[in-house]
Amino acid sequence: MTQVTELGYLTLGVKRLARWKEFASDILGLEVVEGDLPGRVFLRMDYWHHRIVLEENDADDLMLLGLRVAGQDEFGEMAKRLTDAGVPVRIGSFEEAAERHVLEVMMLEDPSGHHLEIFHGPHVQANRPFYPGRRMHGPFKTGTGGLGHIMVGNSAGYDKTYAFYRLLGMRGGVEYRVPVPNLPRPVDLTFMHCNDRDHTLAFTAPGKKRINHLMFEVENFDDVGLAYETVKRAGIPVGIEPGRHANDQMYSFYFINPSGFMSEIGWGARASTHQSEFYQRDTFGHAPVQGVVNPGMEVNASLEPV
Ligand SMILES: [Fe+2]
Repeated sequence: MTQVTELGYLTLGVKRLARWKEFASDILGLEVVEGDLPGRVFLRMDYWHHRIVLEENDADDLMLLGLRVAGQDEFGEMAKRLTDAGVPVRIGSFEEAAERHVLEVMMLEDPSGHHLEIFHGPHVQANRPFYPGRRMHGPFKTGTGGLGHIMVGNSAGYDKTYAFYRLLGMRGGVEYRVPVPNLPRPVDLTFMHCNDRDHTLAFTAPGKKRINHLMFEVENFDDVGLAYETVKRAGIPVGIEPGRHANDQMYSFYFINPSGFMSEIGWGARASTHQSEFYQRDTFGHAPVQGVVNPGMEVNASLEPV
């Protein structure tokens, strides 16, 4: 069955573009490339023309997610499947695809109103190796797993969201069912995958922002340590201390970015599994730091060790 294959790109709307450029380069280690339009900056992390667009605006939030399909046949099949299912889809023009540095693109929304684009044919700059914005021990882990993973708010409820992303060919479901004192039933977190990355999209209760966090994986364990020291030295608040997640088994930590939501840097995740299981807490660590508030983070705090 035709399915989306990876989270290929995304756009963030940022209030403080200059601060974000510094953060992207000096803290995250991404390559900053000036955009072709005013107020737009590209961020690279591998051979792709870009993985992230920073767009200067007041949103300070996720603007859109770009999900890849394999090629033009799959692009056509996906457009037909969505249309047949009653999902409004608009096929982008040649100019819109060119602006995104892809061959073809279609625009739609998920049930929670997140803007999605489904595309094929990213511009890969084989002559232009990734040049990190600061020293790194190794590369970012992208490849078939896409740029990383992202957690967003789910205001449409589990059933609609699950059905929609199944339509895109993703698999997954509830992976954390966390007991919370004084709540009548546990809090569920949903994770969906479309390749060998354990999850590409994760869903939580809606916060004040669309996005809860954005994760990049590094291939060398020491790059998690280096990022941690870099964040601390810069005086950037750590939101969740290092630890290992139970689902993707990734060793990671979280910190606040200039738009107020969290960035996660991780290493050592296992490949996605294809049978459901759930957890009540993480393997170890990931203690939330008291007083550091993520506007899109109301649930992850409950993954702290008990
Ligand atoms: Fe994560």
